[in-house]
Amino acid sequence: SCAGLGDEVVMRASALARSNIALVKYWGKRDATLNLPAAGSISMTLDGLETRTTVEFGPWERDSVFINDEALEGKGLAKISKFLDLVRPGTLCADVRSTNSFPTAAGLASSASGFAALALAASQAAGLELTPQELSVLARRGSGSAARSIVGGFAIWHEGQKSDGTDSFAEELVPAEHWDLRCVVLVTRKGPKDVPSTEGMNHTMETSPFYAEWLNTVRRDMDGAKEAVFEKDFVRLAEISEGSCLAMHASAMAARPAVIYWNARTLELIHEVRRLRVQGKACFFTIDAGPHVKVFTTAEDLDGVKAYFQDHPSVEDLLVAKPGQGAELL
Ligand code: DP6
Repeated sequence: SCAGLGDEVVMRASALARSNIALVKYWGKRDATLNLPAAGSISMTLDGLETRTTVEFGPWERDSVFINDEALEGKGLAKISKFLDLVRPGTLCADVRSTNSFPTAAGLASSASGFAALALAASQAAGLELTPQELSVLARRGSGSAARSIVGGFAIWHEGQKSDGTDSFAEELVPAEHWDLRCVVLVTRKGPKDVPSTEGMNHTMETSPFYAEWLNTVRRDMDGAKEAVFEKDFVRLAEISEGSCLAMHASAMAARPAVIYWNARTLELIHEVRRLRVQGKACFFTIDAGPHVKVFTTAEDLDGVKAYFQDHPSVEDLLVAKPGQGAELL
């Protein structure tokens, strides 16, 4: 419950954050309350896939949250309220308005950009002046991958050692301008809900005989992916990213019962990307906790890749993104 200060108190801020896609995946937590990852991860922040959020604190009875003009209730609202407790001034309540620039119906994850924008807007509205590291730690509490959306370009989220989580934040490896990669998002369907990533990764960790081996791949892949990004080595990044994605999904598929995010189109598109690569196009795929396929390519090969998938029978919708900036105040 929230008691009030005077009505004249205005504590309000707006922020913008962009989604990101992992090249070395995050899949599993060593601490579920603090969202501490079992291993590090590396991602590219995406321009164009944006969340804009305005937060206002005031003397209201309860928090209200609107996402794309729709009121959030139940568990979703409770999760945001709990997150807001981390920055809430006194007992004030919040009014949160958030919009995504990308179709939520497409089933693309918006929790990364969503919690990054919320962390920045809410901390600013509360009058806190957080460092980029503290902001990343805060965003992480909402959703692990949101830690990386505080940062632009290519991000590394450190596993960290401390039990309080203060050393598990994301940092920029290189800025967006460093490497003109493109990410072509192939939406395979606008269908039923997937197993949420939190649930999928917890279940994998608890029951998959491959979970420990999955973590070993991450520890091997981190340095290689970092170097590939620094050196703009597309072939090396392709090998590591596809390997990391498939190892993550293999660990999930081996969970009991299985967590299978792919549909028939997902697998069809995996093969298409491999065919396209044999034909000489620079491309590799990655897949998150859903059936959509994200194809990374170079600026040079973008048109060819786009043309190949534009009217493909397994593609419902196609979006293109390039490296984007970190979270910003509006
Ligand atoms: C497959 O960040 O959505 O996209 O921390 O539980 O909110 P929570 O999970 P979330 O998981 C993302 C999983 C992934 C891989 C990745 O982005 O690294």
